[in-house]
Amino acid sequence: MKNIKHSWAEPYKIKMVELLKMTSPAQRKKAMKEAGYNTFLLKSEDVYIDLLTDSGTSAMSDRQWAGMMMGDEAYAGSRNFYNLEKVVQEIYGYKYLIPTHQGRGAENILSKILIKKGDIIPGNMYFTTTRLHQELAGGKFEDIIIDEAHDPENECAFKGNVDLDKLERLIKKYGAEKIPYVSIATSVNMAGGQPISMKNLKELRALTKKHKIRVIHDMTRVAENAYFIQQREKGYANKPIKAIVKEINSYTDGATMSAKKDALVNIGGFLAVNDWDVFEEARNMVVVYEGLHTYGGLAGRDMEAMAIGILESVGDDHIKARVGQVIYLGEKMMDYGVPIVKPIGGHGIFVDAKKFLPHINQDQFPAQTLAAEIYLDAGVRTMERGVVSAGRKANGENYYPKLELVRFTIPRRVYTQAHMDVIAESTARVYERRNSIKGMKMIYEPKYLRFFQARFEKL
Ligand code: F0G
Repeated sequence: MKNIKHSWAEPYKIKMVELLKMTSPAQRKKAMKEAGYNTFLLKSEDVYIDLLTDSGTSAMSDRQWAGMMMGDEAYAGSRNFYNLEKVVQEIYGYKYLIPTHQGRGAENILSKILIKKGDIIPGNMYFTTTRLHQELAGGKFEDIIIDEAHDPENECAFKGNVDLDKLERLIKKYGAEKIPYVSIATSVNMAGGQPISMKNLKELRALTKKHKIRVIHDMTRVAENAYFIQQREKGYANKPIKAIVKEINSYTDGATMSAKKDALVNIGGFLAVNDWDVFEEARNMVVVYEGLHTYGGLAGRDMEAMAIGILESVGDDHIKARVGQVIYLGEKMMDYGVPIVKPIGGHGIFVDAKKFLPHINQDQFPAQTLAAEIYLDAGVRTMERGVVSAGRKANGENYYPKLELVRFTIPRRVYTQAHMDVIAESTARVYERRNSIKGMKMIYEPKYLRFFQARFEKL
């Protein structure tokens, strides 16, 4: 009896379903070609299982939908804003809230306020929109994540950690006054959803305090990071996710949030800060770019759904099932021998395209190619996270990231274990015929965030 395992299961049951459309290989071939071999340009109708992103794609609960009906659509001072403000203060521990239409709205405002031309913004790996807003504000991003994060095979438990020596070297080189803040993400997206440890955050806090540098937290997936701390870090096994989330935030001065991920809503985000002066300026600026400071581009009902979603997102059972499903898929892929980033991250599986397609060099877009092939097999939509996503430097040269990945991002509370089986089997089939796959060339390249709209042709 002792050996019978305790499986996790979803802490909810299903009340409504959305029917999926199945496609034939010929339909998929046509659709992929029309989309310029970019999965972002596929029509969602042509997709069977959609793993493009976990952003805005989660299923809301009955309570969140009930909250939508309680929307107070007053232009100013909506009741839902005050509910959201209270939840952000209580659950996340930040003092002042500015709602925004989504995460990048908050990044825009924050970057404009804190960054001056010539500033340096160190961070634990870049994120596409975050770095672009830092650059558009005149700053330069410097990667200070530990080296292990760039190695898909390295099984370090906290691959999202900051290398404090790298940060100290930057401070020495440029001076603390050139560094407006350290940009820290929990569950580092581009590294494969890898967590940062509490110990590392505390040390970062101590170092930045000494130099009077702020720490700004991209808290888009903070609950998933908290789960890994609970599972892996000494002293946290018996702490609830809620307490861990609050402790993480306590080592930072403010946050940008894309509520479309952890917070279980289809749209929304915010900027939250502890500093009154920054808040004052942000409250002023939000009116220009988003909307009045009590709605920031959102409807009252959106803010209500977000407030309820935040409360649900820090539930221990919720997060265990959420990450449990991701781990289930990852283990299944590994059983088939598919090369993935290890350890398995919080929001998806990241397939190592360099290892999967070693015969395709980075100029021929191995991850972009693989994402297209995965779609062709069974209609599973994934996304490139490699040389296309990395874009170009200010001088026009391509960034060549070490990680060339295809992301299988799992929406929260949407798909079942049987869907995970189908995804793993489809990927294994593509892996079996990997040697016959050829690379691609880019035939159209937009100026900003090219991965969204670039077009390709098969070689
Ligand atoms: N920060 C992180 C870590 C993100 O993953 C995202 C979005 C943002 C900021 C920007 O937020 O989309 O609400 O404006 N990531 C999505 C993704 C797009 O698919 O990973 P947004």
